[in-house]
Amino acid sequence: MKRLDGKAALITGAARGIGLAFAEAYVREGATVAIGDIDLETAETAAARIGEAAFAVPLDVTDQASIEAAVRAVEARTGGIDILVNNAALFDLAPIVEITRESYDRLFSVNVAGVLFMLQAVAKSMIERGQGGRIINMASQAGRRGEALVAVYCASKAAIISLTQSAGLDLIRHGINVNAIAPGVVDGEHWDHVDALFAKHEGLEPGEKKRRVGAAVPYGRMGRAEDLTGMAVFLASAEADYVVAQTYNVDGGNWMS
Ligand SMILES: NC(=O)c1ccc[n+]([C@@H]2O[C@H](COP(=O)([O-])OP(=O)(O)OC[C@H]3O[C@@H](n4cnc5c(N)ncnc54)[C@H](O)[C@@H]3O)[C@@H](O)[C@H]2O)c1
Repeated sequence: MKRLDGKAALITGAARGIGLAFAEAYVREGATVAIGDIDLETAETAAARIGEAAFAVPLDVTDQASIEAAVRAVEARTGGIDILVNNAALFDLAPIVEITRESYDRLFSVNVAGVLFMLQAVAKSMIERGQGGRIINMASQAGRRGEALVAVYCASKAAIISLTQSAGLDLIRHGINVNAIAPGVVDGEHWDHVDALFAKHEGLEPGEKKRRVGAAVPYGRMGRAEDLTGMAVFLASAEADYVVAQTYNVDGGNWMS
């Protein structure tokens, strides 16, 4: 008996990176996984590689019609959504005096509104079905403190910790557990982009920011997407039934240091 046998999960932004590692881990634990992503081609390639327990769904979390269509598509294919992972997010970087409205709107529409309205659409579906469910939001160590140059992303992730608390307290009466994971620094394409932005703003050589943040992690290295899958499976499983409205750091000790 695997921990997610018979469960259906929708993971946003799962075409690559952390979401993709979660999709693979959930399938290993017996779940069927919908890979919802704005990059449909990469999502389809990822689903094909995982096998028949995974399938791709077109999804733009900034578009309400797209959210509703994706939820309907996953319901139709699986019979109902048991687990939602709100994972899709964007990153940007600028000194306070250079932040643009365009950057703010772009990040908040994906990182905050995208999470809220995905969560709402799936919660409605779960309530109607009457079998409860699990919602896991991806926060960040960036949501626990400010950071020079990273104001907008940090604020968007602080909003996720807050939304997790409010939604967790509201939805548990329907048997829906809402919790969040706050990673530290996780290597992958996302951090390649972050590294390039820091190189530009801090005058560093490409790769240097990554090297420095990795060396500063108490564990001794940057995280890997696979380092987070244990928490993602736990929060989706029956073992987490009494866990409500929490945000868990999985960061090699980075937040503590
Ligand atoms: N990588 C890290 O160091 C780190 C640290 C802390 C928190 N996080 C969080 O973990 C999550 C995953 O991070 P990652 O490193 O795997 O990111 P990533 O950039 O590698 O992947 C993000 C995915 O989201 C998709 N996406 C973007 N906009 C979308 C939209 N509008 N609708 C649907 N999909 C969209 C992208 O196509 C991509 O597949 C994010 O919430 C991120 O903020 C990452």
